[in-house]
Amino acid sequence: MTDRSTLLQTFLEHADQAFTAHTHDPEARRVVRSVFAALTEPGAPGDEGEEMPELAREHLPYLLDPEHFSDYLLQELAVSFSDLAPHLVWTRREGDNPNASDGFDAGHANAMIVGPGGLERRSDVWLGVSLLAAEVRYPDHSHPPEETYLTLTPGEFRQEGQDWTTVGAGGTFYNPPGVTHAMRAGEDTMLTFWALNNSA
Ligand SMILES: [Fe+2]
Repeated sequence: MTDRSTLLQTFLEHADQAFTAHTHDPEARRVVRSVFAALTEPGAPGDEGEEMPELAREHLPYLLDPEHFSDYLLQELAVSFSDLAPHLVWTRREGDNPNASDGFDAGHANAMIVGPGGLERRSDVWLGVSLLAAEVRYPDHSHPPEETYLTLTPGEFRQEGQDWTTVGAGGTFYNPPGVTHAMRAGEDTMLTFWALNNSA
């Protein structure tokens, strides 16, 4: 059995509790249950990042200040994520990025926490995070696994053919397999976690 660092284990426990408490839609809950059930088994150790991008260094200390959250589970998640964030490999999305806003490139940062390129390399379930600067729109994208987002800060989500939905801090959003979807930040920076179940 592979060991998992205390830092990652603590974060995953807090993520499990926060996702579980805040996800109410039955399909979204199914993703959350599957992902965190799989994560009781550690995966193969992956690579650690060397330095957080400037966007994360600039915004995370403020965004993750526990005083911003009235909900205890979100507070705990924010604290354990702020400990974990410097260890992650942060990346920018490459490719066409359809319908992304101007400034998307410099105005976003993604990190896979567990999953391909994550601190644990595994394909069954993926858990990651996206940081979007104010007014930045993420490109339309799709992926075969179904997905539940838990956003730590308010933002908007959209599926192809639908209007934008505003989701507040601690809110969730479900994407069925293969649906084209996007998110965008409002006046403030947006930080959102995504959990994908690739084992269904
Ligand atoms: Fe997605």
